[in-house]
Amino acid sequence: MSDNKVILNYDGKSFEYPIVDSTIGDRGIDISKLRDQTGLITLDLGYKNTGATISEITYLDGDKGELFYRGYPIEQIAEKSNFTEVMYLLLHGELPKAEQFSSFENNIKKYNFVADELKKLIDVFPRSAHPMGVLSSLTSALTAFNPKAVDVKSKEELDYASELMIAKFSHLCAWTYRKTQGLPINHGDNSLNYVENFYKMAFRLPNEEFELDPVVVAALDKLLILHADHEQNCSTSTVRMVGSAHTGLFASISSGVSALWGPLHGGANQAVIEMLELIEKDGGDVNKWVAKAKDKNDGFRLMGFGHRVYKNFDPRAKIIKKAADDILGKLGIQDKALDIAMQLEKVALEDEYFIERKLYPNVDFYSGIIYRALGIPTEMFTVMFALGRLPGWIAQWREMRLKGDPIGRPRQIYQGSQLRDYVDIANR
Ligand code: SDX
Repeated sequence: MSDNKVILNYDGKSFEYPIVDSTIGDRGIDISKLRDQTGLITLDLGYKNTGATISEITYLDGDKGELFYRGYPIEQIAEKSNFTEVMYLLLHGELPKAEQFSSFENNIKKYNFVADELKKLIDVFPRSAHPMGVLSSLTSALTAFNPKAVDVKSKEELDYASELMIAKFSHLCAWTYRKTQGLPINHGDNSLNYVENFYKMAFRLPNEEFELDPVVVAALDKLLILHADHEQNCSTSTVRMVGSAHTGLFASISSGVSALWGPLHGGANQAVIEMLELIEKDGGDVNKWVAKAKDKNDGFRLMGFGHRVYKNFDPRAKIIKKAADDILGKLGIQDKALDIAMQLEKVALEDEYFIERKLYPNVDFYSGIIYRALGIPTEMFTVMFALGRLPGWIAQWREMRLKGDPIGRPRQIYQGSQLRDYVDIANR
């Protein structure tokens, strides 16, 4: 039986701190009284050892390469579920019964009309604007058009705001893409399901009939499921932090979009394809680039490799790698980038540098290859990640508000100047 407390000896005194138990995985030391009792705080750059909350939504084991959504393993969810059902599961904690599913899906269709005025906001952006910057702005702008969904307290108000966000966000993602392509934007087609509707809104050409390719729809649905939540990652922690100030849901989600944009986080899927294209253009010598990734003096990193938590294969990367093979085969596409990715993976996984540091392919390493095969341009990859992660952000934000987590306000270790008096400029 493990201990249920830890003892800290400091300044000739002993202090006891209780252990907080988990259903599975990490147990934690409750240090809420540490500073009052000892005058000490903790320091943990990047929060590598620090739990920010207690959650019931997603569990991952980085050593075993396991990922569960509300207790269901990602392998089964990816195989058997669909994105709309996963959104319900993450928000409400259980797989929906048939009538719950249809009511959820009908509400999303009921709320998915986006105010036409938002088109004017899209028009002011240059076509060259990065889609993540456009998406973050449009998401925050939703607040202005949906004031009732801002100051939410009851579970009913939270359900309304959550379904409104889900309904409108896919339109914003499709419209963001259309902007980059110089295509007119449209309000979608409610005869279709969520993923089909996004796909048609984004890709339908105004002068052609649109065929829904079931291979593409199935691939998009699976990719969105695989990105749906990932416990306290950078962008989710950002959404929680912003929401902890009781900022509205749309503005909180907008901050998550901005955090996801970073190349060390969701922006990595775009950086992976750019890296593979660079290696191909450079002659395809993967050994040369693996050597560069290992060289501390070379700023190059193997994008799509490594993870803060997974010290084994990212289970999503395994599923996406297999899906990439299937989809390229079904669509009859040969993609040199996939060959280079597989060569890179082989060389890196046999190299001491990567083995020692437990650096494996993560979710971003193969996802871009599928997006490209589906005709999605590179700069849109992170928007696709955001669309997938939306239900996770909302579920985590809801949990934080429903549990009444306090406003986030970390402390610091100060190593700046000692107290000193102001000196007039004439005497400096
Ligand atoms: C996502 O948190 C999540 O759950 C995120 C995510 C989600 O679903 O939300 O899973 C999505 O963001 C996946 C990660 C996508 N990012 C990338 O692929 C970018 C490349 N990866 C790295 O930048 C890095 O691995 C991170 C940022 C992902 C993790 O960084 P850590 O945990 O802070 O680790 P670190 O940077 O301190 O690296 C530890 C060591 C260092 O070497 P040493 O100083 O010990 O000698 O490993 C090296 C690093 O130099 N290293 C790499 C490397 N990643 C880490 N060396 C070369 N190439 C890499 N990719």
